[in-house]
Amino acid sequence: MDHFAYRNGELYCEDVPVARIAESVGTPAYVYSSATLLHHYDAVASAFAALRPIICYSIKSCPNLHICRLLKDRGAGFDVVSGGELVRALRAGGDPAKIVFAGVGKTDEEINLALDSKIGWFNIESEAELANLIEIAGRRGVVARAALRVNPDVDPKTHRYTSTGKKESKFGVDLERARRVFHEYGRSASVRLCGIHLHIGSPVNTVEPYVSAIRKTLALIDELRADGFAIDTLDIGGGFGAHYKTSEAPPAVAYAEAIVPLLADRVAGAKPLSIIMEPGRSIAANAGILVARTLYLKKSGERDFLIVDAGMNDLIRPALYEAYHFVWPVRPAAGFVPAERGERAASMAGCLPMDVVGPVCESGDFLAKDRMLPPMQRGDLVAVFTAGAYGMAMASHYNSRPNPPEVLVEGGGFRVIRRREGYEEMMAGEAL
Ligand code: LLP
Repeated sequence: MDHFAYRNGELYCEDVPVARIAESVGTPAYVYSSATLLHHYDAVASAFAALRPIICYSIKSCPNLHICRLLKDRGAGFDVVSGGELVRALRAGGDPAKIVFAGVGKTDEEINLALDSKIGWFNIESEAELANLIEIAGRRGVVARAALRVNPDVDPKTHRYTSTGKKESKFGVDLERARRVFHEYGRSASVRLCGIHLHIGSPVNTVEPYVSAIRKTLALIDELRADGFAIDTLDIGGGFGAHYKTSEAPPAVAYAEAIVPLLADRVAGAKPLSIIMEPGRSIAANAGILVARTLYLKKSGERDFLIVDAGMNDLIRPALYEAYHFVWPVRPAAGFVPAERGERAASMAGCLPMDVVGPVCESGDFLAKDRMLPPMQRGDLVAVFTAGAYGMAMASHYNSRPNPPEVLVEGGGFRVIRRREGYEEMMAGEAL
């Protein structure tokens, strides 16, 4: 469910016509719906309420400070993977006790910053990293709290670049090694190793991989407890799906129906487990679109190209993962207003196959390939849907294209939450 809909023949975000935003801030531009962000956060919170989880919004998915603040005000903690994300979490007003810090390559500087900030948990990805944290915390005379990230060796059946839970992944340690890590480092005085972290991949559109990963992890927790280790936290990571093509992602309640029964007993009793969740995409993806303007129409061989003013520097997912993003005009020609968005809309009679491409000098610079679209003209606006997560977050300056602005819609109003970058700003660090 989201708050982007066609009304009176044109696309609205909540109660604001998207075309009005484009007129005001120009294109390309990212447009987010605050109601959708909150709706998705609430959906996770209420579906998993029985576990009383700490919901740590995964900043990497959509790091804008205003969005972080919006979610913080709703109760979110933060999942961070760099010093920069940690500073964002704190700047947004995040409670340090609800910050988890993951990542296979934490620098000493980042570790020190996290210790200074008194974050909740370090999610540890290797023995070497743990040894280093023990060293640094010990030298400083502080006690850090940590969870060990394990690879439960399940196949999340997602793109190979975003699959992380297999044994041979660079993230975390396999279950066998996890036992050894606890026996070697689990009684350190400067790092209280009291949690297990997992994140199997993203997006994971079925619940089975979670069930199997959590089962294996609970067995590990039981063994570790039997060996005398005080495990009090289980972080089940992120990875819930979003709607890219149709309505392919299970709702939060479907994940919860499978996951909550596995953990319900564990959050109560004499040795209660605290549960942490790290959703990113399922909150942000369907809450954002990328709006672009048609620059030119072109034919090459038998192919029709729609050349728009947004490129792979603005949204790299199609180029990097061959990801599908539904693209449709903001004000479609008469008769082409889709009753239902997504893949099925593209089967409307009268549509023509086109490649929607950007201005970047790469053949990989496309937003949509071989896509059925209504007749288009120069100047027409198009919306690239499900762009709220890993869209702006992964934008670059390639081809020296400044970053687009970000706009947050709240009911009938909207505000610019990141201004369009200018050329001077883009080159500011390079003064001659
Ligand atoms: N926790 C950890 C440890 C993660 O590595 C990630 C994502 C998340 C949580 C959040 O996952 P989510 O709920 O957003 O699925 N750029 C790729 C996605 C990379 C995901 C990286 N890790 C994409 O555009 O599909």
